[in-house]
Amino acid sequence: MIIGVPAETFPGEKRVALVPASVPALLKADAQVVIETGAGVAAGHLDQEYEEQGAKIAPSRADVFRSSDIVLQVRTYGANPEAGRADLDLYRPDQAIVGHADPLSNPQRMAEIAGKGVRLFSLELIPRITRAQSMDVLSSMATIAGYKAVLMGAGLLPKMFPLMMTAAGTLRAAHVFVIGAGVAGLQAIGTSRKLGAIVEAYDVRPAVKEQVESLGAKFVEMDLDTGESEDKGGYAKELGEDFYRKQRELMMSVVSRSDVVITTAAIPGKKSPVLITADMVKAMRPGSVIIDLAAERGGNCELTKADEDVVEQGVTILGPTNLPATIPAHASQMYAKNVVTFLQNMVKEGKLEMNMEDEIVRDTLVTRDGSVVLPRIREMLGLEAPNAGEGEA
Ligand code: NAI
Repeated sequence: MIIGVPAETFPGEKRVALVPASVPALLKADAQVVIETGAGVAAGHLDQEYEEQGAKIAPSRADVFRSSDIVLQVRTYGANPEAGRADLDLYRPDQAIVGHADPLSNPQRMAEIAGKGVRLFSLELIPRITRAQSMDVLSSMATIAGYKAVLMGAGLLPKMFPLMMTAAGTLRAAHVFVIGAGVAGLQAIGTSRKLGAIVEAYDVRPAVKEQVESLGAKFVEMDLDTGESEDKGGYAKELGEDFYRKQRELMMSVVSRSDVVITTAAIPGKKSPVLITADMVKAMRPGSVIIDLAAERGGNCELTKADEDVVEQGVTILGPTNLPATIPAHASQMYAKNVVTFLQNMVKEGKLEMNMEDEIVRDTLVTRDGSVVLPRIREMLGLEAPNAGEGEA
């Protein structure tokens, strides 16, 4: 069993799917590890470090795909539509491809991948269950995004975050408002608090109030009927335009008094709800900053443009879409840990064993034997449900 890691090709992507420290765990499962030369450099790892841990270095991308039974990537073709397209010709039937694949946004690409006969595992689909916590790449990457969002906000704000009493007078602490207290939001709250800001936060899941408060932030209470705001996978559900309109009205005063607003409210596979309108932006003080982490799917702010700096009446709105790539060493370390744990669940004594009774395997396997097998994606493609037995191990 050979597990291969090609270099990432998405523009600006600096992460690598495996760090040297993660190689021994795969060797222990009776696998060999092959890394494309230079794949780890942008994340701070030279070929030599991989070799010291027992990996082999392959001279080219084609060599990695040719030799590997399992290919580990940060972004497979599904999440790297332009540069990643060339990989389709390198796929070998029955090879397993593991990484981000963004299947809910791009079902059509899943059909293309299926046509190549490979088994694609999409790590975004790992269920949010206790057993899979150490495999959850979305949580790992959201942790990094939440941290970096605060640093970006702090860097742009014409003020400092902490309260300071100096001989030249008192400097008041900055106010940060975090919308959505999931993984990214909680990290943003913690980081803002460590920098000394006064932090407020809101989430449609009332259960997070306690977590918000335990980080030293104030939970903003709103008279909204959030009902069933969480799906069985632990992700937020769409709540409807009437709900969002009322939410915007109720948040107006908090947004307008905040120096930095960090938004993280995303619904998997759906357009992000607009929670900050242009009028709300205009009510903020010049110099204020909005960091919109939901930019990839349209953003939580009406004025967000993905990966562009927008300035409206002195308020800066940023919508960075790949923050984990800006902290590639730690992002790769976390990603590698997640992906190795995911593989340890399936690679036994040098063989890939897909137990379709295991929801971690079943929920992440998108393509197999030339077909898209995941019911959610089949439905999006207008395909019939798989026949009984299809998709079984
Ligand atoms: P999550 O699902 O843990 O958290 C999202 C939170 O938003 C949930 O707690 C949810 O209840 C809440 N929410 C949903 N609708 C809301 C509403 N109307 N008002 C208030 N709260 C609402 O997601 P996670 O893992 O924290 O990721 C957050 C966001 O960060 C996602 O959009 C994700 O795509 C994004 N992200 C962005 C990155 C970047 O570089 N820009 C990198 C990694 C993640």
